[in-house]
Amino acid sequence: MSLVIFSNVHKIQPWIDALKNAGPGIEVISHEEIKDKKKVKFALAWDHPKGIFKEYPNLKCISSMGAGVDHIMSDPEIPEQIKIVRIIDPLLSQDLAEFALALVMSHMRGFGKYFNNQHRKTWKKSMYMRIPDAKIGVMGTGAIGNHVALFLQSLGFSIVGWGKTPGKQAEYKRFHGGDQLDEFLNNINILICLLPLTPETKGILNRNTMGKLINGAYLINLGRGLHVVDQDLIEMIDSGHLSGASLDVFENEPLPEDHPFWSHPAIQITPHVASLTAPNSVAPQIIENYHRAINGQQLLNIVDRNQGY
Ligand code: GLV
Repeated sequence: MSLVIFSNVHKIQPWIDALKNAGPGIEVISHEEIKDKKKVKFALAWDHPKGIFKEYPNLKCISSMGAGVDHIMSDPEIPEQIKIVRIIDPLLSQDLAEFALALVMSHMRGFGKYFNNQHRKTWKKSMYMRIPDAKIGVMGTGAIGNHVALFLQSLGFSIVGWGKTPGKQAEYKRFHGGDQLDEFLNNINILICLLPLTPETKGILNRNTMGKLINGAYLINLGRGLHVVDQDLIEMIDSGHLSGASLDVFENEPLPEDHPFWSHPAIQITPHVASLTAPNSVAPQIIENYHRAINGQQLLNIVDRNQGY
């Protein structure tokens, strides 16, 4: 009974080592090495070849190698009975929170502008934003968004959150659903997107929604590229309504060479590095789910296939 890794993206060996360490005796292999597909009960996946899972008649569970599961959910050929689980990891959430903080501070202190000026040998000071001036909105208040919100709040930032459903009571004001979206957006000058990508959240950051933000607001997208309508973002920045954006995620990754984001002076690009899953940190929960899947027990961090997260 093997635990099989389906990924063409990640370096496999550190995952194999971490999983073997957390689950001694479990056979952990890459999908290219599978000899008998019937023996495979548990898959660990990131950007798997689409359609492949229907070839595994005894597969019980697919675990994402990260927090997001959109790369799994976008495969329409995953048999109904296969359960999907994701990673919820304190290290991953903290990495995201620190990355968000770095970008918030970089925006507030104008680093993007100064580094652009550096290349032109231009010495030009401008006023900066202080913590009490920042009104941060966190979109997506699940395990990660909530952690990011609380982390920033603990540093003195004023925080509001928005999620699809009312969720648990939070220490910050939390809006929910389409009816409360405008009210949430209206009072924000830094928007951090940490939503899961679902058919409902695709394109949620568009001309209409971004137009509701306080004039001069800044966007930080750490969710998925498809949350943003790229052309609308460029228009909102060029019209002066938004002051700029930091983007870590894109519809196509790597971001194509001819994409206008690359050369936009008010857009900062990072190559999807806000949080990189650490195999040693997440291996124990993957092994726990492996045992639970094999024994038919309730899985950890299960994804609602109808909701998409
Ligand atoms: C990264 O984007 C993840 O989903 O873990």
